[in-house]
Amino acid sequence: MEVVLTASSEGAARLLADAIEALVRRRPDAVLGLATGSSPLLTYRELVDRHRRGSGPSYARVRAFLLDEYVGLPGSHPQSYRATIERDLTSHLDIDPRNVHAPDGAAEDLADAGRHYDAAIAAAGGVDLQVLGIGTDGHLAFNEPGSSLASRTRLKTLTSRTREDNSRFFARPDDVPRHVLTQGLGTILEAGHLALVASGHSKSGAVAAAVEGPLTASCPASVLQLHPHATVLVDEEAGSQLQRRDYYRETYEDKPPWQGL
Ligand code: GLP
Repeated sequence: MEVVLTASSEGAARLLADAIEALVRRRPDAVLGLATGSSPLLTYRELVDRHRRGSGPSYARVRAFLLDEYVGLPGSHPQSYRATIERDLTSHLDIDPRNVHAPDGAAEDLADAGRHYDAAIAAAGGVDLQVLGIGTDGHLAFNEPGSSLASRTRLKTLTSRTREDNSRFFARPDDVPRHVLTQGLGTILEAGHLALVASGHSKSGAVAAAVEGPLTASCPASVLQLHPHATVLVDEEAGSQLQRRDYYRETYEDKPPWQGL
């Protein structure tokens, strides 16, 4: 995998925005995999700013699939991931809202909703570029430690740590849903390009475990090691526990000619 260390999280966001725009220019009906949470927010802001200024591509034919969704929150709830991605990104682009998909966390039959979601991704031709964040416990999407590395979109129970991490978005800690529908690690691995973005000290242990630790269900993000085209974009703080920092810097600086991520 390629590890890119940037001096600031803004630098990482610009690189990821460049990669997304290059894909959409190359393939106007590209399938984007979108993550919610704080990690990709600067990237989304960059895309929206460029789109507003007229320097970004058109997203009119782009399709988008979210990684995960809370169970028990209607899509209209402000903290549902569907509402979040609309607020943070898609409502500011010219993407057709009908082409923005999320797992149906309000479905009566959640197992069926998971299967249906995987089928919808496959019917769209698969995700071209998947944006990812990482949990402080190494989770990817909502695949908590112990998740099968071959898992598909399904119901998961959140750990108390993840619920605590996400309680900042809710009025009371107890309001954080206990269950989610999340793309599986096997589902995520089918995307053409995985781009994980992380910033800040709180992510440094999880980033080091994912990039340099063993491939293990105990750190679900380590599954990136199995993917032929995975990029990890970290600022200095999130990358501070990586042992091979100097090597990653050299590799990145030596990349001749610069061809994007
Ligand atoms: C969340 C999401 C993930 C996200 C991760 C990190 O709970 N389900 O998709 O990548 O945990 O969140 P954040 O970026 O807010 O730190």
